Amino acid sequence: MSKRYKLYEGKAKIMYEGPEPGTIIQYFKDDATAFNNQKHDLIAGKGVINNRISEYLMTKLTEIGVPNHFIRRLNMREQLIHEVEMLPLEVAVRNVVAGSLAKRFGLEESTQLQRSIIEYYYKSDELGDPLISEGHINCFGWATNQEIDDMIILSLRVNDFLVGLFLGVGIRLVDFKLEFGRWHNSNEEVQIVLADEISPDNCRLWDIKTNEKMDKDRFRRDLGGVKEAYQEVARRLGVLTEINNIDLNNHNSLSVQDGLA
Ligand SMILES: Nc1ncnc2c1ncn2[C@@H]1O[C@H](COP(=O)(O)OP(=O)(O)OP(=O)(O)O)[C@@H](O)[C@H]1O
Ligand SMILES: [Mg+2]
Repeated sequence: MSKRYKLYEGKAKIMYEGPEPGTIIQYFKDDATAFNNQKHDLIAGKGVINNRISEYLMTKLTEIGVPNHFIRRLNMREQLIHEVEMLPLEVAVRNVVAGSLAKRFGLEESTQLQRSIIEYYYKSDELGDPLISEGHINCFGWATNQEIDDMIILSLRVNDFLVGLFLGVGIRLVDFKLEFGRWHNSNEEVQIVLADEISPDNCRLWDIKTNEKMDKDRFRRDLGGVKEAYQEVARRLGVLTEINNIDLNNHNSLSVQDGLA
């Protein structure tokens, strides 16, 4: 990999300065973390799979008019994205009871919700990403009321679209987490756009027939078969079809021109 300026290294990805001002290269690592970094492991090939799944889903969302940071995939582990000013928030959308919702309210996992629930979390590793309300977001100046409205509308559109898309390949979209940022569009306006990634790392995906988990809960709960589950999600979505011919362990950013795309 050529020398370039590293902007940020997170738990799952590395952000490098992109080729044009206002662009970033997003590199997907194989690192898996849970419980605020207390649990850590390497899942060989996870970065390659998430790069492809996120590319596929962001591209579909662009097609239905959901603005997002994705520009194009560069190679097996990297994609070019627009640099945005991230809001320090995670927006969770829930369709079925699972995870912290089950714990917090003593509910049984897998209960279908009567309507989708949107939750906000403040992004802070030190504080353990606490659950917050619109009041906190507004009072602490993390986003304006208009930006909150925009995030709600976009999150619900993403949810409606992804629920149908996953259902079509035999997967129940239980819940997922989104991150948004401010982007200066070509009309010099500041716009809220979807950023980060959408992958089995931040969605709960259950097989529609067996309820088998096909997401990061396999890692969190030591269920095994993490890579195989992620691979199956990719296979059902029809991405990474050349999976048998590539080396998922490869950590190099092999280029698309190498015939490996
Ligand atoms: N388009 C973008 N422009 C700028 N930053 C982005 C963009 N998309 C995602 N990010 C940020 O880049 C980082 C991605 O790295 P990663 O997901 O590994 O971080 P993380 O370990 O989850 O840490 P964090 O708590 O900061 O999210 C995150 O901080 C994310 O908010
Ligand atoms: Mg992250």
